[in-house]
Amino acid sequence: PEEPLTDRFGRQHSYLRISLAERCNLRCQYCMPENGVPLQPQSHLLSNDEVVRLASWFVQNGVDKIRLTGGEPLLRKNLVDLVGNLNELGLEQIGMTTNGVTLSRNLPDLVEAGLTHVNVSLDSLLPDKFAKLTRRPESYHTKVMKAIEDCATLLPNRTKINCVVLPDNVDEMQEFCELTRSMPIDVRFIEYMPFNENNWGTGEFVSYQQMRDSIEGLSRLEDGPNDTTKWWTLPGDTMGRIGFITSMTEHFCGTCNRLRITADGQLKVCLFGSTEVSLRDLMRHEESSDEMLQKLIHYSVQRKHFKLGGHKDMEDLQDHSKENRPMTLIGG
Ligand code: GTP
Ligand code: 5AD
Ligand code: SF4
Repeated sequence: PEEPLTDRFGRQHSYLRISLAERCNLRCQYCMPENGVPLQPQSHLLSNDEVVRLASWFVQNGVDKIRLTGGEPLLRKNLVDLVGNLNELGLEQIGMTTNGVTLSRNLPDLVEAGLTHVNVSLDSLLPDKFAKLTRRPESYHTKVMKAIEDCATLLPNRTKINCVVLPDNVDEMQEFCELTRSMPIDVRFIEYMPFNENNWGTGEFVSYQQMRDSIEGLSRLEDGPNDTTKWWTLPGDTMGRIGFITSMTEHFCGTCNRLRITADGQLKVCLFGSTEVSLRDLMRHEESSDEMLQKLIHYSVQRKHFKLGGHKDMEDLQDHSKENRPMTLIGG
């Protein structure tokens, strides 16, 4: 490989998140406004060939983990072929973060093609509450629960549930945790983060501390080197872990190894940074070369801020959240 993508703070970026779709088949309240967000025409989005070309460049520059996001990545046409092509690049991990609604029918083919890890977003175990939070029918809940069971079978200990904790679902945390007794999956609780269009407010916010206080008997496990997650476990026999993603009260920027490409081909060096550069426009320019790509990407990585996209703290982040895109257009 070429030199790794190292920033001014010595952080090496070996994890690339690629958003494959702006669209989503849910309307989660914390992610999107009720009527969705304005979407771009297909021609503005990266094609599968373009995604593979970029991914291949990143792999040559030290990336060994790719996570596919969205919008909803399963809405992408020819996703199985795309995963197959990414798999040929020789990655250690190909993950996907999905709402799970249409996952069951695609999962065997995706795993066969090379998908190694799945994170399923699920914020309630109750169909009616799920419907309220996602503004979609209760019947979708059954599909997501089935998808999680299928993942536990096909990708044991490589499957996580992502649960954004809100005042509405705090009372379900203990029950979410109990899933780690019966299934080989991890459950992660996420602090609610501010983005454009999501009306983040401190009234809605449940902190890491408050979350831990609502679960009995947790004990701490060791952290992974570049993990977004602080890991714990329930007492007694369990098959999976309990995690917390504490972006707001205890950020994990010091060990950040993540870069992002949006569905329209913008490189985002930080989730909370509004600076973007268009890899798509460079790639589509007739005189573009890998060398120019190299320059542009290294230049952007060099400009990455130490933490929170250059913002001081939670309040500062909220004050500037209108400058960032809605979550659904970033991919988390
Ligand atoms: P693993 O690869 O399984 O560790 O997943 P992940 O945590 O990297 O990604 P996932 O898509 O499952 O995201 C879970 C939550 O973590 C979402 O709320 C993301 O927005 C958040 N997240 C992911 N990467 C970052 C990051 O670099 N910074 C911050 N602040 N949050 C992140
Ligand atoms: N704060 C925290 N997590 C969020 N997600 C979406 N919006 C937010 C937010 N405002 C989560 C989703 C999904 C992951 C990609 O990001 O639940 O699991
Ligand atoms: Fe990395 Fe930015 Fe996330 Fe911090 S907020 S962990 S620097 S992407």
